[in-house]
Amino acid sequence: MKIAWGITGAGHLLKESVDVLTELALEHEVTVLLSGAGEEVLKMYGLFERVESVTGGYYRELVRGDDQKFSYPLTGRFSLGKYDLLIVSPTTANTAAKIVSGIADTLITNAVAQAGKGRIKTYIVPVDVEAGDVETVLPSKLELTLCQKCETCKAAAACPANAITPGVEINLLQCEGCGACQLACPFNAVTGGKKITIHMRDVDIQNTRKLREFEGIRVLKRPDEINIH
Ligand SMILES: Cc1cc2nc3c(=O)[nH]c(=O)nc-3n(C[C@H](O)[C@H](O)[C@H](O)COP(=O)(O)O)c2cc1C
Repeated sequence: MKIAWGITGAGHLLKESVDVLTELALEHEVTVLLSGAGEEVLKMYGLFERVESVTGGYYRELVRGDDQKFSYPLTGRFSLGKYDLLIVSPTTANTAAKIVSGIADTLITNAVAQAGKGRIKTYIVPVDVEAGDVETVLPSKLELTLCQKCETCKAAAACPANAITPGVEINLLQCEGCGACQLACPFNAVTGGKKITIHMRDVDIQNTRKLREFEGIRVLKRPDEINIH
């Protein structure tokens, strides 16, 4: 099967999505599409290399939104019906809102629009599904209440990406999510995968509801509900 898998910039359900994606890539030709934020967030959570490692070759490309300029020529493959399936997981609130409004100005929203025109079935896994609170995980975080502001910051010294300003913050756009800082700090002042509870906004839940009504789109609650067979 030829599958295209879009990743947007959500930390929520990101590892779960990458787990299913890597499994599918063992059996199918999977093209991975990254929104600009998708690429950044994958790196922050240390998952970019895992995704990169399952790509390579024709119809197994890693396509970066930032390389597709403004017209997203690659998505012509969808209008030409070249794929059997498009999956977008995880799907940010931003991407869901754009899709329901018919906006197609990122690699992923454009792929969804072209898939609709090429009658390619599309599975969407939104991060905002039901009203209420949800638990999600953070990337590496410098906990200032634990930081001892050491003269030489071992976490900063261990960071291969030079992303830590000691005693201040981690620059997540530089962070590669390797976790070396977490191991290096003797005061456990750098956390990774810390869980927080966030509140689902009404507007995002309503957009997910609207997505369910779209022709050709199936909304799934979790990436492990993706069943290809
Ligand atoms: C660490 C991190 C985690 C994020 N997680 C989420 C998330 O779970 N859900 C969401 O809707 N946005 C999340 N965002 C915000 C999106 O990345 C942002 O809205 C971005 O513009 C989405 O662009 P895209 O929809 O084109 O990928 C996160 C941002 C960061 C820095």
